[in-house]
Amino acid sequence: MVDLEEDIRSLQLDSAEDINGVVNPEDEKPDVDKMDEDPKQEVQAQSVEAEPKAKVKEILSVQDEEDEQMKKRHLNVVFIGHVDAGKSTTGGQILFLSGQVDDRTIQKYEKEAKDKSRESWYMAYIMDTNEEERVKGKTVEVGRAHFETDTTRFTILDAPGHKSYVPNMISGASQADIGVLVISARKGEFETGYERGGQTREHVQLAKTLGVTKLLVVVNKMDDPTVNWSKERYDEIESKMIPFLKQSGYNVKKDVSFLPISGLMGLNIKTRLDKSLCSWWDGPCLFESLDSIEVPMGDPKSPFRMPIIDKFKDMGTVVMGKVESGTIRDGDSLLIMPNKDHVKVVAIYIDENRVTLAGPGENLRVRLSGVEEEDILSGFVLSSAANPISTVTEFVAQLQILELLDNAIFTAGYKAVLHVHSVVEECEIVELLQQIDPKTRKPIKKKVLFVKNGAIVLCRVQVNNVICVEKFSDFPQLGRFTLRTEGKTVAVGKITAL
Ligand code: GTP
Ligand code: MG
Repeated sequence: MVDLEEDIRSLQLDSAEDINGVVNPEDEKPDVDKMDEDPKQEVQAQSVEAEPKAKVKEILSVQDEEDEQMKKRHLNVVFIGHVDAGKSTTGGQILFLSGQVDDRTIQKYEKEAKDKSRESWYMAYIMDTNEEERVKGKTVEVGRAHFETDTTRFTILDAPGHKSYVPNMISGASQADIGVLVISARKGEFETGYERGGQTREHVQLAKTLGVTKLLVVVNKMDDPTVNWSKERYDEIESKMIPFLKQSGYNVKKDVSFLPISGLMGLNIKTRLDKSLCSWWDGPCLFESLDSIEVPMGDPKSPFRMPIIDKFKDMGTVVMGKVESGTIRDGDSLLIMPNKDHVKVVAIYIDENRVTLAGPGENLRVRLSGVEEEDILSGFVLSSAANPISTVTEFVAQLQILELLDNAIFTAGYKAVLHVHSVVEECEIVELLQQIDPKTRKPIKKKVLFVKNGAIVLCRVQVNNVICVEKFSDFPQLGRFTLRTEGKTVAVGKITAL
């Protein structure tokens, strides 16, 4: 088991040094024998929203607009963790404390929660907006909200913790730059989440694979009577999480920080803890910690790529997604891949605001002309016309087998569901090419017919429909993927050849 986790770690692309956030392409040479190079994920500024009923900002010039957008960086932060850890409650509390939800609304939610016999869920109702979520007290769809601190505009992506909704969690995490891992300190709850099969583990491993390079671990429910701000409990959780986070590929010193909070009571979130409540915590509060996380910037000059996560009709066709590379400007001529539909950028929206350009990391709504909404599917990619994204039905990938169902064997003919950026597609392993020794990272000479849990293997993967992907070494975020069957993540991988 330890070995398996070692392997996962090596596969999961340790965070590399960022030199003032500048990415040196030389650092990203593909190397099939070694799986621990790092993708530099990046970021600059932006957010998504529902309808683009935005007022057009007065834009003096592109340069002014650029300056304005650069003032405050933007980060996408995904809230992950086991079911009921308090992700939605903490997300809701953040919105409340940042003044976006008034007392009357809170009172209304309190009443509604009480009527549903879910008294303590009222804060979660801020994030859990649909009836099913409120009745069951479980997030289903990734909730989205925005708030700002002194230096940063954040988009919160509130992922579901329940194991049935892992695909939604994957879609949330794949849009995120940083993760807040929420852990319940309540007696028994930390334990259930941390067990094999608990979502604390699965979420951490997925987040790392999906490019969430920095993690803030919040030990929540510190107010619970079974915890009562106990230092011992906090230390116990931290000391159990550290080795696991290391095994999952996180550099704990550089990329992870811990802090105690109470999402429900709103403690250690916007302001630091009162010493009379918790004498042993000297560290920052959640807002401060989020503020100080540094994430390397993307390359605004590389070819434009924006995987489409959603689309709708509104005075034309509007697509939503996160810019993974390059810059988009009003009036640009682009392609929607894989269909090669020529489109023109009519308008770009960040939150409520119309902007003239946007770079890597931005969550956008883009109004296009030249394409019908019906002709776009999520998983398609808005792409530079001069240098469009690659389209394939087959690729070669280096796969790390995590845990096969009932210890099944992994061989040619194995079928699974492929998740790569916003693509979800059935796939089949058509050929195992070479097994790689997880210890030495060297290829094993012997012909490989099947592999088991923990193996690293180079194989050919086929999909029925054309998909848009890239080699991991060229565009990490568009070349890393997970394979799932029957609701379980069975393997993670990266594309090595197209
Ligand atoms: P899923 O979306 O289903 O994965 O759950 P979640 O992580 O979003 O948890 P949610 O916010 O819905 O909270 C679950 C339960 O934990 C609710 O009853 C909350 O009131 C409770 N809870 C959340 N945070 C705290 C906290 O800080 N202290 C205490 N005592 N209870 C909390
Ligand atoms: Mg929730």
